[in-house]
Amino acid sequence: MNASRHWARLSLALSLVVILGGFAQAQPAKQEFQPEVGQAGKDVVWVPTPQELVDKMLEMAKVTPKDYVIDLGSGDGRTVITAAKRGSKALGIEYNPDMVELSKRNAANEGVSDKATFMKADLFESDFSQAQVITMFLLPSINLKLRPKILNLKPGTRIVSNSFDMEEWKPDQTENVEGCSNWCTAHLWIVPAKVAGTWKLAQGELAIKQTFQMISGTIRNGKVSTPISGKLNGDQISFTAAGVQYTGRVNGNAMDGTAGGNKWSAARGGK
Ligand SMILES: C[S@@+](CC[C@H](N)C(=O)[O-])C[C@H]1O[C@@H](n2cnc3c(N)ncnc32)[C@H](O)[C@@H]1O
Repeated sequence: MNASRHWARLSLALSLVVILGGFAQAQPAKQEFQPEVGQAGKDVVWVPTPQELVDKMLEMAKVTPKDYVIDLGSGDGRTVITAAKRGSKALGIEYNPDMVELSKRNAANEGVSDKATFMKADLFESDFSQAQVITMFLLPSINLKLRPKILNLKPGTRIVSNSFDMEEWKPDQTENVEGCSNWCTAHLWIVPAKVAGTWKLAQGELAIKQTFQMISGTIRNGKVSTPISGKLNGDQISFTAAGVQYTGRVNGNAMDGTAGGNKWSAARGGK
């Protein structure tokens, strides 16, 4: 190759480097995803829970480091991150992949990536049976759709919802946050043990009707039937019969406790 061709090639190569370099610089830097309040979601738009209400919800659920918390539709990850800061392991289930990535960045910025994890998934197709605490800010219709699955969770599982209720399943506790302008109410439910049916008790046959956490029924001994009424708090049962207060714990097909200073126990089945 003669010297002039060599210089021609070299200068072409240099020109390409300059042009391509300039082109690369002219490209705008990739914009980080910015969420917008009200942006569409699969079943519900994104509106963040005010931080004061997040704190109130986790306080009502008495979240401790022993709990596994799952937020259904976790948005920017704030509830999961706050639970992780309380020492719990927490998972956010979120359909929007950009929100999932944003949540991961937020968790990393807060130094809780080891405890706060996020999954891109549809909450209706996700298994949340391992959670001790479920948090949600969805819609009344979605809460109702989830209600049968929630009622099948382990007794004692705590459910906290921003603003929306579960119709006939009345909350065990409702709290408002003072000085908050929008979305300021939280409801708590404790999944009740299933006790409907007949039980054999030393005093006779205990027949229980159950409506969510409320119970009614009778204790029948021969021809004598005494009405009962009471409630469940997870696996804790309490009811009154003929002015005597029964308290106890349900464990599958057995329950036991104390009534008027005496021990009592019952086994499912009766006669
Ligand atoms: C009202 S926002 C609540 C966000 C967050 N939990 C909070 O309290 O700040 C509801 C979130 O649910 C998400 N979402 C909607 N439908 C969903 C579905 N089927 N599965 C998972 N996430 C869903 C939306 O993308 C949105 O981020």
